[in-house]
Amino acid sequence: MTPDLYNYQAEKPFSQKDLVTLQDYSQDEIYQILGKALDLKQKHKAGIPHPYLSGKTLGMIFSKSSTRTRVSFDVGIYQLGGYAVVLNTGDIQLSRGETISDTAKVLSRYLDGIMIRTYKQQDVEELARYSSIPVINGLTDLFHPCQVLADLMTIYEKKNTLAGLKLAYIGDGNNMSHSLLIGCTKVGMHISAACPENYTPEPEIIEKARKNGMVTGAEVLVTQDPVEAIRDADVVYTDVWVSMGREEESAQRINQFATYQVNRELFSHAKHDAIFMHCLPAHRGEEVTSDIIDGPNSVVFDEAENRLHAQKAIMALLMADKDK
Ligand code: CP
Ligand code: NVA
Repeated sequence: MTPDLYNYQAEKPFSQKDLVTLQDYSQDEIYQILGKALDLKQKHKAGIPHPYLSGKTLGMIFSKSSTRTRVSFDVGIYQLGGYAVVLNTGDIQLSRGETISDTAKVLSRYLDGIMIRTYKQQDVEELARYSSIPVINGLTDLFHPCQVLADLMTIYEKKNTLAGLKLAYIGDGNNMSHSLLIGCTKVGMHISAACPENYTPEPEIIEKARKNGMVTGAEVLVTQDPVEAIRDADVVYTDVWVSMGREEESAQRINQFATYQVNRELFSHAKHDAIFMHCLPAHRGEEVTSDIIDGPNSVVFDEAENRLHAQKAIMALLMADKDK
């Protein structure tokens, strides 16, 4: 059973240094983030100041495009009393061969935290290893943990629970599918993923999700049949068919994914009160039709808003002075 996250009492003090993947987090730590996010959202809406990171600075390294991540982290740290510095990779010495470890050590002398969006998960791990300050994964080819925390927050707001719900992920076995497999199973949500052959999630991540599920009761199904995956789902999730960095495969992918479109017919197999989710940006007419993403069951803009609140919670928990 999912506890009351609006009044969540932590089992242990939050002691993580970084957010590299949610697989490193306990259920208690995930609940702490969600509880804090719900609290910060209420404070923000009520106009109650919450300067938990007064005077602190976040560096934001971007090797890929971003709208939501960039704006929500920038605004989020500002609302917490801090300041953001944008570091596009092309503008810093990392793009001219300075090592990740030197970059980590130098940035640790100036900043109080780093958010990084890049290609390789290993680069985020390396940055975290050599930084003395918290490092937050703002998306890699493998994972997108900040998005999934915002998604779990959104699902909790809409359904008042997480454990026991069924999420169906339809489409590419990409970073979103991986983070959903990990995030859902950590909190006891069943997840079924329908992906075309050759585009399934990484086997070791499916394995980790299954192991998480043995602890929390979450069931994991990976299939090629979208109707099987979506049947009786409480949450229907999809993402672009062509992720950043895969642009050269566009034509082939659009062809192969055609039967994985979330449209009215496919959505009719989910529960009547199922919500539709998408991390955005979306391509209407490809992975989802307009009547679904712009329809009454869609919560995509709540998800986008909750990036702000969830990431403020992540930053507050990781970057605030531990003795305060
Ligand atoms: N969902 C998401 O991460 O959006 P951006 O790519 O715009 O940051
Ligand atoms: N899977 C997408 C997510 C974008 C937020 C990508 O990596 O491009």
